Amino acid sequence: MFDFAPPADLPAEERYRQLADAADALTQGEPDGVANMANLAALIWEFIPDLNWAGFYRVVDGELVLGPFIGRPACIRIPMGKGVCGTAAQTGETQRIEDVHAFPGHIACDAQSQSELVVPIVRDGKVVAVIDLDSPKPARFTEDDANGVEQLAARIGSRI
Ligand code: SME
Repeated sequence: MFDFAPPADLPAEERYRQLADAADALTQGEPDGVANMANLAALIWEFIPDLNWAGFYRVVDGELVLGPFIGRPACIRIPMGKGVCGTAAQTGETQRIEDVHAFPGHIACDAQSQSELVVPIVRDGKVVAVIDLDSPKPARFTEDDANGVEQLAARIGSRI
């Protein structure tokens, strides 16, 4: 049994440090990327409060394809440059969106989503996937969240 759940009142910096350490421990020695992404989605769900969707889109043959996630069923394929995920994948830059309805081209997968954080995962200098987090709360994601998920992405790039 894995029990990584953090206390509710843990400050963001420590919460993300523990998340990255738990992610490292959970994927250590496991070569199957799908298994690792599935466990990582579950881990993110336990560590980051106020989410309604958490998971991965992978770059496959020049487009994003849905990977393991927690949340409602989602759109399967996203062209590079489209939506929040496609923008993060194409630019290689984190997209921290306070109001998804104000983002041109936002792709709505769950009508409850109000804010979104998408962080590219880079391997050998290329974006290979993105971590996508949605929240039903407006402006849920702070700079601390973006930095924390970027640290996580850096730790797991070789494991997915
Ligand atoms: N909102 C994303 C699509 C993926 S879902 O949020 C799971 C986007 O605009 O790319």
